[in-house]
Amino acid sequence: MFISIRNDPAQAGIEAGKRAASLIRQAIESKGHATIILATGSSQFETLNQLTEEEGIDWSKVTMFHLDEYIGLPVSHKASFRKYLQERFIEKVPALENVNLINGEADPGQECQRLEKLISESPVDVALVGIGENGHLAFNDPPADFETRGAYLVVRLDEECRQQQVNEGWFGSINEVPTMAISMSVKQIMLSKQIVCTVPGARKAKAVENTLERRVSNCYPASILQNHPNCYLFLDNESASLLNDRLT
Ligand code: GLP
Repeated sequence: MFISIRNDPAQAGIEAGKRAASLIRQAIESKGHATIILATGSSQFETLNQLTEEEGIDWSKVTMFHLDEYIGLPVSHKASFRKYLQERFIEKVPALENVNLINGEADPGQECQRLEKLISESPVDVALVGIGENGHLAFNDPPADFETRGAYLVVRLDEECRQQQVNEGWFGSINEVPTMAISMSVKQIMLSKQIVCTVPGARKAKAVENTLERRVSNCYPASILQNHPNCYLFLDNESASLLNDRLT
């Protein structure tokens, strides 16, 4: 794993955005097309901001997939991840070849099947992901399902995950946070040729420690990134603060 530790969250996000841009350009150069996965959440603010400002990406040759979405949350809600991607990415770049958002208001089983068919036809070059405070990868909370072969699955959100969304201001109280979501599966994320993972801030220090210093376990879902051949992890001093000396 390539690990970068910058002084602050903004620098980590900028570096992650630049790396993602470079990997997207390389994919377009080598095969005329790139397929990407985008994550949401506050961890992706700087990364997506940088990515949208990058020059020299032919966005008309890029197909986008969406990592996770709440079930039943309208797109007009401020915590909707479709709204987030619309405002923070899709409206900021020229038209993409394809945009594949998760419709959390559709029948969940059918929506998983629809997206699975699409992503199976479009091998993923670059996945942008984050790690939750509870160590989740996408919305695969611990103990995460490492076995599901389907590209998307319906998951139940744990309390720590839901509380994080309240603490970040996306919802007024935990009762307002949906309990179910559609998430890309861990196996599908791991199929991406390259993974760019941005994990900023002190709140993520424990999750980062568990990701890198535990044995791979579904109790620490993001620890599976240790097994990926091309994973770039962007940290800052605070999110890296619990790592041992060999990494800092
Ligand atoms: C979030 C999002 C994911 C993101 C991950 C970490 O809840 N659903 O798309 O990759 O979990 O991001 P953050 O902790 O910034 O929310």
